[in-house]
Amino acid sequence: MSIIALIVAAGRGERAGQPGPKQYARLAGETVLARSIHALAISKRIDAILCVIHADDRALYDEAIKEVPQRLRKKLRTPVIGGTTRQQSVMAGLEALAETDCETVLIHDAARPFLSKKLIERVVDAVPTTGAAIPALPMTDTIKELDAAGTIAKTPDRAQLRAVQTPQAFTFKLILGAHRAMVDRETTDDASLIEALGGRVMPVEGERDNIKLTTPEDFAVAELKLTETISAMGYDVHAFGDGDHVTLAGVKIPHTRGILAHSDGDVILHALCDAIFGAIGAGDIGQHFPPSDPQWKDAPSSTFVAHAIKLLKEQGGALVNCDVTLLAEEPRIGKHREAMIESLATMTGLKKERIGLKATTTEKLGAIGRGEGLVAQVLCTLRLPRER
Ligand code: CTP
Ligand code: MG
Repeated sequence: MSIIALIVAAGRGERAGQPGPKQYARLAGETVLARSIHALAISKRIDAILCVIHADDRALYDEAIKEVPQRLRKKLRTPVIGGTTRQQSVMAGLEALAETDCETVLIHDAARPFLSKKLIERVVDAVPTTGAAIPALPMTDTIKELDAAGTIAKTPDRAQLRAVQTPQAFTFKLILGAHRAMVDRETTDDASLIEALGGRVMPVEGERDNIKLTTPEDFAVAELKLTETISAMGYDVHAFGDGDHVTLAGVKIPHTRGILAHSDGDVILHALCDAIFGAIGAGDIGQHFPPSDPQWKDAPSSTFVAHAIKLLKEQGGALVNCDVTLLAEEPRIGKHREAMIESLATMTGLKKERIGLKATTTEKLGAIGRGEGLVAQVLCTLRLPRER
């Protein structure tokens, strides 16, 4: 006899403001659904997991589950297709389990990726008492009930109120019977079907962290929770040589000299790459694009930036800002500043307000002061996933 987690993931997430269904949105680089699957699969109590998905989402589902470690992915059954309401989706999942050895089922919203192992244990352990156990939290706000006119009708006693969550755990036969008996009755959770049939539901302690991602604000808060702020810097120097222009931040600037370099010699973009590589522990630009490699001859440095940003994204990271200081007697960049900022914004995906661009001479001191070359320093702030 087994304990199976049923994850309902067939909704459209219309309130969440994400580009697609919210369960496939990424939080710190990982989809919400993969996080929910992971959180359930990692519990020794859970023998198998069945996801209920939307008919249009099979490709998204197949992509998302690749994020779940192989050893945990083994617990996944072939997903089933849900319905137009949450209740119909749960029903589809329960019917798919009807002929299996499922003894206890945990019904969980894909949109709650933050449940802990302890919570799973609490609901599973409480099932034998009445056949139904749900996570519940005392209210911190006072709750009011409205009348037909939309004014306050009354104030229920807060001590008697609970906010409930998923996973809700049930004896399989009990909840399947309740769903079958109550197909015409709309509810937002499964325990209420048991209540309506006169059954008893045990509350166990819920978790404040176990939020249901519903609005764009929920996503913003969750992203902050899962990531931390990192700073990293990059530095690059190139000497002047023959030529009629220098390339800085991807912008070609006419000059009486050129840059001695294998690529286009864009010190700003090279320093930017090194800052990003530094933040993710990915070595330096020379390791990724060796100057000895002929394929990078005269290469536009925007290629290097695109690569650095791709690696950053693969790690679930994102740039917050980038602040550039150019040290050079010549050329003066004033006229080109706007174009350079535009160019950096396009390459990094940052808003222009998050890009700093300053230039200074070195008061004729040292090699830069003698006009032998130029230097760029870039300081970046980034958000990167915390350790799981
Ligand atoms: N759900 C489902 N099938 C539906 C509706 C909802 O499987 N027809 C799932 C959602 O995918 C979600 C959970 O039920 O994991 C809780 O529902 P909710 O938070 O309301 O998600 P959505 O219905 O997707 O969002 P919205 O109501 O904002 O459109
Ligand atoms: Mg909904």
